[in-house]
Amino acid sequence: MNKTKSDSIIEESEKVFANTYKRAQIVIDKGAGATLWDKEGKSYTDFMAGIAVCGLGHCHPAVVNAVKAQAEKLFHISSLYYIEPQTKLASWLVKNSFADRVFFSNSGTEANEAAIKLARKYFWDKGEKNRFKIITALKSFHGRTYGGLSATGQDKIKKGFHPILQGFENVPFNDIKAIEEKTDKTVCAIMLEPVLGEGGIILPEPGYLKEVRKICDRTGALLIFDEIQTGIGRTGKLFGYMNFNVKPDIMTLAKALGNGLPIGAMLAKEDIAKAFVPGSHGSTYGGNPVACAGAFAVAETIEQEKILDNCITQGEYLKKRLNGLQKKYSFIKDVRGIGLMIGAELNIDGSDIVKKALEKGFLINCIQTNILRFIPPLIIKKENINALINALDDIFSNFA
Ligand SMILES: Cc1ncc(COP(=O)(O)O)c(C=O)c1O
Repeated sequence: MNKTKSDSIIEESEKVFANTYKRAQIVIDKGAGATLWDKEGKSYTDFMAGIAVCGLGHCHPAVVNAVKAQAEKLFHISSLYYIEPQTKLASWLVKNSFADRVFFSNSGTEANEAAIKLARKYFWDKGEKNRFKIITALKSFHGRTYGGLSATGQDKIKKGFHPILQGFENVPFNDIKAIEEKTDKTVCAIMLEPVLGEGGIILPEPGYLKEVRKICDRTGALLIFDEIQTGIGRTGKLFGYMNFNVKPDIMTLAKALGNGLPIGAMLAKEDIAKAFVPGSHGSTYGGNPVACAGAFAVAETIEQEKILDNCITQGEYLKKRLNGLQKKYSFIKDVRGIGLMIGAELNIDGSDIVKKALEKGFLINCIQTNILRFIPPLIIKKENINALINALDDIFSNFA
């Protein structure tokens, strides 16, 4: 059989890439909305959105046009100068969140580095130099750089990379007593994803985040929300914390902020943000004009196209349809989620189901070996969901 173009690309890739990803055996060539095409022209419906990134779908014209226009004007200049798209994006973030100040990075893990550094420096500046501990949740995921890695509550992510940063302690998510016991005057921050993403789409129990806020208020520890996955509409609100009526002191964003452009952000309240002064922290590319222009187009489009409404409606519909499958297939243990961040926990391994879904033209993935994850673009339509459910029904019937 003749080699396809995709075969050649995959073969070449396997020779040259560092071995950090288990990739599906397809070469994606282009995308529009919630549809992707591979090199051979086969189409796929995307329920992954580039790992919860492309909220507006692929190549949304508003973002494409903003990027084109900015790229023709100014590509890069650094934050040693003022640039309008950066200012516009930061102002939009401040106007629409609890925060007063913004620091831009290029990725999620870098936004978390900024948050960790800011929390520690805030107390250092106050003369509390031993207050450097950060409590995070077991099963949490905060990134792959040393700060993000050290904060992450999963041993498999840290294995082989010790010694990691000092001062991180993990507690079970949703266990308020565990946080209470650990939070003393050596703790500078409690850092949580409002909904655990990579850890298995685990929602906070009613009142949990409010209790954490109270512990922070009582002890003076800062509350950091890692909203890299939950932020910019994924949960049906602009930021995940808005679902739970709990405001953090610091928040990190990335993923959907740029709809695929590499950009992250760390947001903080004024009195905390002022611990950063020129020279404390920085990034050559952070707040790059092209990334900021694209991200500002994302912000405008979310408002103009009522993206959050669609996220809530389709999220409820997807859950309802998955619940229907759960009634039919006993190996589906649980269906849960918020907005368009939905998981179906199985009591079998999910990797073969993901492969079969791909063959049928649907991109989904499996986390923690047995949780099918559905994080489609927020513009996903009911007919896309119906098609996915039909495909899953067919696949599941072979696993029952
Ligand atoms: C909650 C959370 N924090 C941090 C990260 C790391 O982001 P990045 O891969 O952009 O560094 C991720 C990525 O999946 C995430 O889900």
